[in-house]
Amino acid sequence: MVLEEIFNAVWFILPAWIGNMLACTFGGGRPIDGGRTFVDGNPFLGKGKTVRGLAVGILSAIIVASIQSVMEYTFNPVIFGFLMGSGAMLGDMVKSFFKRRLNIQSGRPLPLLDQLDFVIGALVMYYLFGPHVLSNFRALPGVTIAIVVILTPAAHLSLNVLGYKLGLKNVWW
Ligand code: CTP
Ligand code: MG
Repeated sequence: MVLEEIFNAVWFILPAWIGNMLACTFGGGRPIDGGRTFVDGNPFLGKGKTVRGLAVGILSAIIVASIQSVMEYTFNPVIFGFLMGSGAMLGDMVKSFFKRRLNIQSGRPLPLLDQLDFVIGALVMYYLFGPHVLSNFRALPGVTIAIVVILTPAAHLSLNVLGYKLGLKNVWW
């Protein structure tokens, strides 16, 4: 069933989705790079990557995974939530690092990578460390990855346009 495949994909990626969303909502304050610049003179990561955002992203992914594990136990929720949350935040930071190297200022768009950075990061962490730290590790069906990669930018864009229309965001991306 198509709906079941979509549900499985959303269920898997949910800790990373919510972690990324709440990092954006509740982030702010001290930047991770401490305001430092790289050799090219641009910020290392930029003021959009903050310590609080990082902490919120990881913690909320662990909380989401914990709630999920009560409904259906698949993985140790603390380990899985940490992998997904830290992966999401790392993916987002790596993307920002490259945006700054390309002279794209904080908050300016880099379509598709802006939407997929955290999913890529979470999947990389899952595949890199999952086999060693999760007792129920399993490779994802290709269709799950495909759905996540298509659905994430679509959902991201719809939510952002909605937020913009409602006056909650200044930019539509
Ligand atoms: N945010 C944060 N800490 C993080 C990630 C996000 O505080 N680790 C917050 C910041 O307030 C940021 C907002 O969420 O401005 C939106 O995040 P994002 O779109 O990832 O950052 P940008 O500001 O657009 O910066 P960049 O160009 O580097 O993507
Ligand atoms: Mg952005």
